Amino acid sequence: MQTLNVDLGKRSYPIFIGSNLLENKNLVQPYLGKGRVVIVSNNIVAPLYLDLVENLFGDSTSSTVILQDGEEHKNLLAVNQIYDHLIAGKYDRNTIIVALGGGVVGDIAGFAAATYQRGIKFIQIPTSLLAQVDSSVGGKTGVNHQLGKNMIGAFYQPQCVLADTEVLKTLPHREIKAGLAEVVKYGLINNAEFFTWLEKKSEEILKLDATCISKMVEICCESKAAIVSQDEKEVGARALLNLGHTFGHAIETATGYGKFLHGETVAIGMAMAADLSKRLGYLNSSDAIKIRRVLEDNFDLPVEPPSNITVDKYIDLMSSDKKAELGKIRFILLKGIGHAVIEGNIRRELLKETLETRSQLCM
Ligand code: NAD
Ligand code: GLY
Repeated sequence: MQTLNVDLGKRSYPIFIGSNLLENKNLVQPYLGKGRVVIVSNNIVAPLYLDLVENLFGDSTSSTVILQDGEEHKNLLAVNQIYDHLIAGKYDRNTIIVALGGGVVGDIAGFAAATYQRGIKFIQIPTSLLAQVDSSVGGKTGVNHQLGKNMIGAFYQPQCVLADTEVLKTLPHREIKAGLAEVVKYGLINNAEFFTWLEKKSEEILKLDATCISKMVEICCESKAAIVSQDEKEVGARALLNLGHTFGHAIETATGYGKFLHGETVAIGMAMAADLSKRLGYLNSSDAIKIRRVLEDNFDLPVEPPSNITVDKYIDLMSSDKKAELGKIRFILLKGIGHAVIEGNIRRELLKETLETRSQLCM
């Protein structure tokens, strides 16, 4: 097992990474006070892992809330389902919420924990690859609004994160690939060596080779922990973690949540960000081609944006992105593989060219 630390002073916490962690009761013991434990999961993950997790928390487990699966249910109704349960059961401020599931469950349960009685403790047990490498770490919690992705939320850190890589064996292959988009992101933003390793090891990774998977989850969590420790509330460097997300979130919102997987829109968004970077003269052609090739060929991810979103729609949605300032869209762009930057002054014509181009490479 590897233990990493998210260094946030009094709110620091460990990330435990390894296989069969869900059988190790010692890991969660230090986080159990006198409060009752409420496990929040969904109708897909609960049948697979709820027994194991109830057992992990032993007598502290009090009850469970089972949400409906899917990005389309990541909304205030789901949060309200948790509030209803907590209030009806007279759960007090010592209650601990355990989020058992992918990024959707983690974001919803984390937001409920952040807001119930002004904040109760919570533990993340991420079960998807995306959640293990990204969403369970760093304390971004929240839900979607019909008009914008993740528009309602709070920064609220968990007590600990338990990433048991064994559970990835039941994750559908399409979801593994979607998680890999966020993995590739870490290589692109600041770790060219990792990007090269991912390219070389893609076959083993897709076959869930245990050594590769644990190394990969560790590298991603290490990178995220370092960035979050430096910039918890995203006033600076943390925004780099949004590479591909400005375009991606617009696609998710415009197509109705759930048509594409979140990771798939991040892959498309990263190809679009590479295209825009190339048009600006930041990224050379061969790197732009390589990025697209690794996403599309090595990891079988989509890179083409859907054809039915107009330029005006993109611009409208992107200008209400959380990184936008006074309606001005800020983009995460690439000045090379492993070198992401934040840019606000992008010429409209170049942006339009990227948005209008179906095949994302201007050669
Ligand atoms: P998800 O939570 O929908 O999980 C993907 C699918 O896999 C779901 O059907 C889920 O029920 C199922 N599943 C999860 N674990 C499983 C397992 N072990 N075996 C079988 N099935 C399993 O999607 P996701 O990709 O995990 O997360 C995407 C969400 O995360 C998006 O809403 C995105 O906005 C959010 N996100 C948040 C952050 C953050 O920092 N908070 C970062 C990145 C993404
Ligand atoms: N996924 C982006 C962040 O956590 O900041």
